[in-house]
Amino acid sequence: MVLRTKPLTKFEVNLDHLVENYHAVQRHVAPSEVVAVVKSEAYGHGALATSRALRRVGCRQFAVATVEEGIQLRRAGLDAGIMLIGPALPKQYPVLAEYRLVPLISEVAGMEELSRLALRLGRRLPYHIEVDVGLGRMGFLPGQGPVAAAAALRLAPTIQLEGVGSHLSAATASEEHNRLEYGRFVEFVSAFPAGVRRHLAASSAAARFPHMHLEQVRVGGLLYGIKHVTGGPEVTQVLSLKTTVALVKVLPPGWHIGYNFRHRVERETTVAVLSMGWSDGLMIAGVAKAGVLIRGAWCRLLGLCTDFAMVDTTGGPEVQVGDEVVVMGTQDSHTITPMELAQQCGVSTGELLGKIALRVPRLYLQGGECRDELSILCPGTLV
Ligand SMILES: Cc1ncc(COP(=O)(O)O)c(C=O)c1O
Repeated sequence: MVLRTKPLTKFEVNLDHLVENYHAVQRHVAPSEVVAVVKSEAYGHGALATSRALRRVGCRQFAVATVEEGIQLRRAGLDAGIMLIGPALPKQYPVLAEYRLVPLISEVAGMEELSRLALRLGRRLPYHIEVDVGLGRMGFLPGQGPVAAAAALRLAPTIQLEGVGSHLSAATASEEHNRLEYGRFVEFVSAFPAGVRRHLAASSAAARFPHMHLEQVRVGGLLYGIKHVTGGPEVTQVLSLKTTVALVKVLPPGWHIGYNFRHRVERETTVAVLSMGWSDGLMIAGVAKAGVLIRGAWCRLLGLCTDFAMVDTTGGPEVQVGDEVVVMGTQDSHTITPMELAQQCGVSTGELLGKIALRVPRLYLQGGECRDELSILCPGTLV
C-alpha cells in the first residue's frame, strides 16, 4: 500500500474552468480557430494535463516554445497539431520532423534547410513563416514579404506552408500602435496568395480586436483565466496556489523577521509562519506589498525565506496551525489574482507563474474532485 501524503503547498488546477474558458474564447473568435498556447508548462499549470483536457473538448492546435516541450506532448500521445512558436535551429529540424512539430521560420535559409531535409526523408514537411511586426525578435521584416513568398513558392514541392504568423509587441497599448503593427502584418501577407492561413492575435488582441482574429488566434493567458484588458470573453481563474500555516507566534516589539534584519516589528505582532518560500515561487519583491488569505482575511506578507513566509495576522482571525492559506485564488469572498500578485512583485504575470517551482505539486480538479496529479518528487503518492 502506498501511504498518501497531503502536500502543505499545492497548485490546484481547475480543469472545468480551463475548459469553460476555452469554449468562451472559441465562441468569441469563431470562425477563427484557437491554438492553445501550452508553453512554459502551460504557464505553470502543467502542459500535459491541460493539453489533454483541451484536446478532449475539441482543441486541435497547440503551441509550445521549445522542441522538448513538443516532444513531451507527442510522447504522451497528443494527436493534434503542435506549432513551435519558440526558436529552433535548422540542426533540430530532423527532430521536429520525427515528432511532427511545425516550426515558425524566419529566414529563407531555414526554409531551404527544411526543404533539403524533406527531400532526404521523402515527405513534404509543414512549416509557418514568421513576421516581425515590432518585437525585434524572430521573423522576417514586413518589407520582406515578396522574398519570403517567392521562396515559399519555389520550395512548395518539398515544404508545405501552413500559415503566416506574427506577435504584437504591445497588445494592451493604444489602438493606434496596434493599427501600425497590424498594417505591417497585412503588408507582409499581401505578397502571398489569397487563402494563406494567418495568425497574429494572442489573448489581449483576441479580446480587443475582432478584425485581428483572422484564421487562427494563439491564446495562452485567457485559457488560464488571465486577462489584462476589458471586454472580450468572460474567463475564470484556473489556478489556486495554496499553502498551510506551520506555526503561529507572537513577536515582541523590536523583533526582526527574515534574513539580514529585513523587517522589524514596531509593536507586538502575531505572525503566521507559512510552509512556502522563494524556492516555491514566492518573490522577495512582494514583501510588505503582497498578502495572503487566511480564514477569509487578507494578511500582509512580512518576510520570506527559502521555504517559509511570515505574515501578519495581528488583530485578525484566530489563525491556527494547519489552516489553509490562499496565495492566489479565492477564499470566502476574497480573490487574489495572478495579475494582482504580479503587480505587487513588480513582474509580469507570465514571469510570476513561470517561477512557481515544479516541486509544488499540481493537483487537477474536475467536478470538484482531485482527478490527477503532477508531482516530480513523489509521483503517485498524492491523490
Ligand atoms: C508567439 C506567441 N504567441 C502567443 C502567445 C500567447 O500569449 P497570451 O498568453 O497573451 O495569450 C505568446 C506568449 O508569450 C507568444 O510568445
